Amino acid sequence: MAGKNPLPPLHANCFVWYNHTMSYGAVTTENPLERLPAPLLAWYRTHARDLPWRRTANPYRIWVSEIMLQQTRVAAVLGYYARFLEAFPTVEVLAAAPEERLLKLWEGLGYYSRARNLQRAARLIVERGGFPDTYEGLLALPGVGEYTAGAIASAAFGLREAAVDGNVLRVAARLCDCRDDILDARTKRAVQARVRATMPTAAEEIRIFNQAVMELGATVCIPNGPPKCGGCPARQFCLGHIRGTAESLPVRAAKKARRREEKTVFVLLRDGKTALRKRSGQGLLAGLWEFPNVEGTLDEAAAPAAVAAWGLEPGAWQNRLAAKHIFTHVEWHMTGYTLEVAGEGPADFLWADRAGLDRCAVPSAFARYYAEAAERLEVSLDDKGGA
Ligand code: ADE
Repeated sequence: MAGKNPLPPLHANCFVWYNHTMSYGAVTTENPLERLPAPLLAWYRTHARDLPWRRTANPYRIWVSEIMLQQTRVAAVLGYYARFLEAFPTVEVLAAAPEERLLKLWEGLGYYSRARNLQRAARLIVERGGFPDTYEGLLALPGVGEYTAGAIASAAFGLREAAVDGNVLRVAARLCDCRDDILDARTKRAVQARVRATMPTAAEEIRIFNQAVMELGATVCIPNGPPKCGGCPARQFCLGHIRGTAESLPVRAAKKARRREEKTVFVLLRDGKTALRKRSGQGLLAGLWEFPNVEGTLDEAAAPAAVAAWGLEPGAWQNRLAAKHIFTHVEWHMTGYTLEVAGEGPADFLWADRAGLDRCAVPSAFARYYAEAAERLEVSLDDKGGA
């Protein structure tokens, strides 16, 4: 098909299709993606999940959904999405919100830089007097990459822009029986160009096309197991299905192993309060609250010395709790001690009572220690006969 925009050349590592009538490795010009739009859109209209961000063309609402959905499952997002829009119904309200309130609403959703970028972007949008309505304008917003810009541009503004995420890469690789590494940026660029070339031209169809490919990837052409080809609108021309290769696709080069870090975390209790401190403004979980901790796994004998190094007088430890948290590039293996202490501790410690703990955004990496502190503080309230 001769398009206006030249497509990237077909060569190894650049999204090639293998023709079963030739020997393995020969390249074909057959492109099953071109046959996708009509059956896909018909399928989407009758089978798509009814998700709140699909009932609106409001760019603010679509933008918030796409940011929340980055690296996060739909089921996990739904509740957060409803609460977020109730608290911040417009971009102006979000721009003016206190950061602590924003982070509290984000608590448990992870990747907190998303929340901060949302607010930075909201302030830029308010300053410029409205939402950008071009792909480039969207891409310039903090926290908005090519995928998100394409998703908002198409769903909110009917612009013919591709939105290629992991779901779409998987669908494209199977449909085209493509064995290139989908983690390679060149493969992604080639898929982006081909999806864009294949998109419908009517605005109402553009608005749903990217959503429909994603939906197919999320519900039919699923990861980690056999795709549900029996319910797929593309099965008649899907090369992966026809050749029996779909389940082994997409090809992903082995990822680097995650870095392992060990930490000792303290639930320090004093006068019905527990100690929290704010993490540095840079890096992982920047600016969120955490339980005081030190690098390495300390045993029962070494733990009190770490507490004393903060200028606190440690009592006997009462509970030892292990926890593990996995981030994208690092995993934390934590050992925690609960203990009563006396003294003030460092100036950056915040001594929070039960209600104070609730107001602080503590990331779910510390969930086990948060639950422990909450329970201990409840108990100490009961001891004092408090409510
Ligand atoms: N994942 C990313 N964007 C999505 C969307 N709009 N609907 C469902 N899942 C998604």
